Amino acid sequence: MNKSTRHAVIAGNWKMNNDRAASKTLIDELKPLVANANCDVVICVPFTDLEISLNETKGTNIKVGAQNCHYEKSGAFTGEVSADMLKELGVSYVVLGHSERRQYFGETDATVNLRVKAAIEAGLNAIVCVGETLKDRENGITSELVIMQTKIALKDLTKQQMKNIIIAYEPVWAIGTGKTATADQAVEVCKIIRNTVSEMFGDDVSNALTIQYGGSMNPKNCEELLSKEDIDGGLIGGASLKASDFAEIVDAASNG
Ligand code: PGA
Repeated sequence: MNKSTRHAVIAGNWKMNNDRAASKTLIDELKPLVANANCDVVICVPFTDLEISLNETKGTNIKVGAQNCHYEKSGAFTGEVSADMLKELGVSYVVLGHSERRQYFGETDATVNLRVKAAIEAGLNAIVCVGETLKDRENGITSELVIMQTKIALKDLTKQQMKNIIIAYEPVWAIGTGKTATADQAVEVCKIIRNTVSEMFGDDVSNALTIQYGGSMNPKNCEELLSKEDIDGGLIGGASLKASDFAEIVDAASNG
């Protein structure tokens, strides 16, 4: 199985942006622009925008995701939202282990793993983020770090459950900085991730796995990144907030 037989997925990560009115406007603009996409189109929105996003995308090819979920089903976890709660609402994707969660909210590889298992058990698709900081890269430990993050995040999952996993390789130094990894740098790490998944689950699983690149992907650089054999999509932050930019990336994935 190769790139042409894998699911290309372009996911927007709105982060903590857009109130309900802005969400509606952005989705209204986006709908016609991506209606003929030949890839999966997902928008991962703040919790408070989930409901309006689900309503506005009803009957379209745009899927809605959240940006995190907790690993327990319910209980004394003030401020948290469970995977079952997301599923009940109609959400189909969740971003887990984003570097901003790791950096600002104490997320660890072990808690990412718990969240991944909870999300998959609830029937969600999980976009699992891994990636090195600039210091890691300078210290020459990019591959060791990404292998470790991947192994721990996916620990205890079954082959069957891996069908609902997407991995997003996001070098932390490229997120929101305008610095994109070169296509060669990106693909090198995406290959390492695929090899790691192959060691853990076998070639059938690793060859079918969708791996996204994320980190300042935009209409200018997306074509080259998305043309690479081991890059099957993108997790898009800044450029997902502008319908025309996001749609251009969707077009590039549809043609790539
Ligand atoms: P960016 O964010 O596209 O703004 O760099 C990507 C992400 O954090 O998922």
